[in-house]
Amino acid sequence: MGLSAWKAYRDSRWALRVNPSSGNLHPTEAYVVHDGHVLHYAPREHAVEERAVLPDGAWAAFLGGGNGFLVALTSIQWREAWKYGERAFRYCQHDVGHAIAAMRLSASLFGWTLRLLPEWSDEQIAAVLGVDRDEDRGGAEPEHPECVALVAAPGQWRAGDPAPLVAAARRAAWRGRANVLSQGHDEWPIIEQVTEATKYPGRSSTPDSHLPTSKSDLEESGAQRWNLGVGSWESTRALILQRRSALAFDGQSSLGRDRFIAMLARLQPAAPPFDAFDWRPHVHLALFVHRVEGLVPGVYAYLRDSAVLGEWRSGMRSQFLWEPVADHLFLLLPIDVMWAANRVSCDQEIASDGYFSLGMIARLASALRDRGESFYRRLFWECGAIGQVLYLEAEAAGSRGTGIGCFYDDAVHELLGLTGDEWQSLYHFSMGKAVDDPRLTTEPGYSWETAAK
Ligand SMILES: Cc1cc2nc3c(=O)[nH]c(=O)nc-3n(C[C@H](O)[C@H](O)[C@H](O)COP(=O)(O)O)c2cc1C
Repeated sequence: MGLSAWKAYRDSRWALRVNPSSGNLHPTEAYVVHDGHVLHYAPREHAVEERAVLPDGAWAAFLGGGNGFLVALTSIQWREAWKYGERAFRYCQHDVGHAIAAMRLSASLFGWTLRLLPEWSDEQIAAVLGVDRDEDRGGAEPEHPECVALVAAPGQWRAGDPAPLVAAARRAAWRGRANVLSQGHDEWPIIEQVTEATKYPGRSSTPDSHLPTSKSDLEESGAQRWNLGVGSWESTRALILQRRSALAFDGQSSLGRDRFIAMLARLQPAAPPFDAFDWRPHVHLALFVHRVEGLVPGVYAYLRDSAVLGEWRSGMRSQFLWEPVADHLFLLLPIDVMWAANRVSCDQEIASDGYFSLGMIARLASALRDRGESFYRRLFWECGAIGQVLYLEAEAAGSRGTGIGCFYDDAVHELLGLTGDEWQSLYHFSMGKAVDDPRLTTEPGYSWETAAK
């Protein structure tokens, strides 16, 4: 969640971070609850600010003799809304997904598990982080709770009921006041409405979920180390720190077929970062392949759960071939899709000038019916996590990715032949060989780091 670079152009200087963010506006705030201390992360200093100490042994009781700490995320929607208006809501959610994945992959480098805790309601998260304390907020913009996760060594997972922690937070002495960002604000009532409608009530009836029911489930997933395939811990760390969004692609380089297929395989749901989630995969890919060696350009489908094959086949255009190319990957239509990919991604050239771009297609209507409207936010988190993996895979392949939050969903649905609201395009992504802007200078995020790219 920290800074990874400072860029400068003439008199302007701006920071970039390990996790990406729509418009580099970074609405996501991170917190740590460690040993009963509630800590807010300050990225500029790469330090934590203590907000409170939870009294009366509440923390030890919560851990129940185990070991671990909590990380939690919130969003300050105004950071996106002043620029993007109503789109701010989903951009905040995408960013949360990227951040969850960034944290999960970091935890994995230490051999730790990181799991979202589905028992916690948004209200409980807000109480323990102190972001519901109007007295500390003053006139500052609201900060909304998103998620909380337990980080632990495998086998150390004992997180208990949040209620005693909430009670302790209510009794604690708090320090610190929020900053006011803007004096004036445009109103975007729909953001408030969707925020209200998608509040998470805590663990509810989630019939088909694969919530961890025993410690052994977690031990098993904790044993799965994430591996970018670049060798040492240090080189993986270096790749994480060098992650950047491409501003433009060269329009001619290509990606090897095996590499492409290996990247897609990293999106399978059992592996980190997806083991942070307590739900089965709801998001699959519609790919626009332009320049992958050995693959004919065209529209492809990559299914993160093979069970949806029949449904997609019958729900999409009847002309699609569904020719198997590799595990979970199907060729639908061999055709030059550069123009179409560009068009559906808001006419952005990054969608046509790279190796490929893609739309993340989520199961929407029945997912919200079965799991409640709060699941809408979680669908974006899943998309963000897919994006984060692809960003890092791009770096490992000597390439670069870019998340694309601006796209025309109806045009994507039409292209695929999808009707109704069961499947919905929620996020796009592109990858290719980046063309850097030579006018920008780069310095490391912190003085103690070596120079980043
Ligand atoms: C959810 C999301 C949506 C984005 N949408 C776009 C987009 O539509 N077009 C674009 O050029 N970049 C897009 N980006 C890239 C951001 O502009 C980029 O992450 C930000 O400027 C920070 O730069 P960095 O990724 O190099 O740290 C998006 C990033 C995210 C996380």
